[in-house]
Amino acid sequence: MPDHPSLSGITDKFGRPVRDLRISVTDRCNFRCPYCMPAEVYGEKYEFLPRPHILTFEEVERLARLFAAAGVSKIRVTGGEPLVRANLPDLMSLLSAIDGIDDLTLTTNGFLLAQHAAELKEAGLNRLTISLDSLDEDVFKKMSGRPQGPAKTLEGIRVATELGFSPIKINVVVQRGMNEHTLVDTARYFKGTGAIVRFIEFMDVGTKNGWELSQVVSAREIRALIGAEFPIEPIKPNYPGEVASRYSYLDGEGEIGIISSVTEPFCGSCTRARLSTDGKLVTCLFAAGGTDLKTPMRSGATDDELAKIIAKVWTNRDDRYSELRSSKTEFGAASADRVEMYYIGG
Ligand code: GTP
Ligand code: 5AD
Ligand code: SF4
Ligand code: SF4
Repeated sequence: MPDHPSLSGITDKFGRPVRDLRISVTDRCNFRCPYCMPAEVYGEKYEFLPRPHILTFEEVERLARLFAAAGVSKIRVTGGEPLVRANLPDLMSLLSAIDGIDDLTLTTNGFLLAQHAAELKEAGLNRLTISLDSLDEDVFKKMSGRPQGPAKTLEGIRVATELGFSPIKINVVVQRGMNEHTLVDTARYFKGTGAIVRFIEFMDVGTKNGWELSQVVSAREIRALIGAEFPIEPIKPNYPGEVASRYSYLDGEGEIGIISSVTEPFCGSCTRARLSTDGKLVTCLFAAGGTDLKTPMRSGATDDELAKIIAKVWTNRDDRYSELRSSKTEFGAASADRVEMYYIGG
């Protein structure tokens, strides 16, 4: 790996290094989950980023190499829905070849997974996270904003399991009044299969999902709901700063995770940087914006010049949105100046 002294060992204002890079490869999606891209906002006429604004795979790779030099060892590719981007396996090949990246993964809604899984695996993708909010036809339709049930996503999970992706994680966003009555069924379906279901507290990301605290089912409630059916116990994180808290089934049939960004925030160990579809470096899921890397890159900046920009942004970072939010007694409505989730990939 070429040396970039300005990046070596960088930490932010709270001493947090940069370890994970989440790369959004498209702002488009074939679903319209109301908690992320409500159909009434993202209709036919909505203008997504025009192609020239979107980083090419070579540009993504170039930046990812610089992040690797800064200490990143894990890359997660996200969207929008990453599988709607053409030729995604080509990007996976480029990213999996980067020195220092030992974990390459993808978050997808699984709708197009069955047809792409084999090529992705060949290109070097190690593991997968698939979003699946409910197995119930009607609840799935409501929460995905599309007229089809979970069959295609389940087929994608089946194909990926057969191909040997491991571990497969299943993300379930939990929203009160929508799917809390189906959580136990989802846990039961995957229990003993090797897949790890992670229940996620509904977050106030972006500005368009009408988030209210009353819609959040807390981690504590989720633990109680699952635990009443299947006894569980907490287990240690896989790595410092893991987003999900882990619980194993006492009968030895695997584990679940709970992601409690609202009621038990985890900013203290947050080592995640985000690269938006159009090449902005975003230092928090709840940031109002990011630092443009695409314009300098396209205007001829050298790697060293780009490295200096990245180092400056990270060493000045002081984000801890979730901790600040939960220290307030009153939660405000979504603020108007926050980037949308599909643009930075969650
Ligand atoms: P692993 O690599 O398997 O540990 O996955 P992950 O939990 O880092 O990634 P995933 O994309 O599956 O994210 C799960 C949920 O956690 C999503 O709802 C994300 O938006 C949320 N999440 C991920 N990173 C952060 C973060 O830095 N802050 C907050 N508040 N939420 C996050
Ligand atoms: N709250 C919690 N999780 C969300 N996701 C998308 N929007 C929200 C939200 N408002 C989840 C997706 C995906 C992951 C990257 O983030 O379902 O699994
Ligand atoms: Fe698409 Fe994922 Fe957003 Fe749902 S949460 S609209 S699947 S990007
Ligand atoms: Fe990191 Fe921001 Fe999430 Fe806190 S709220 S864990 S700082 S991304």
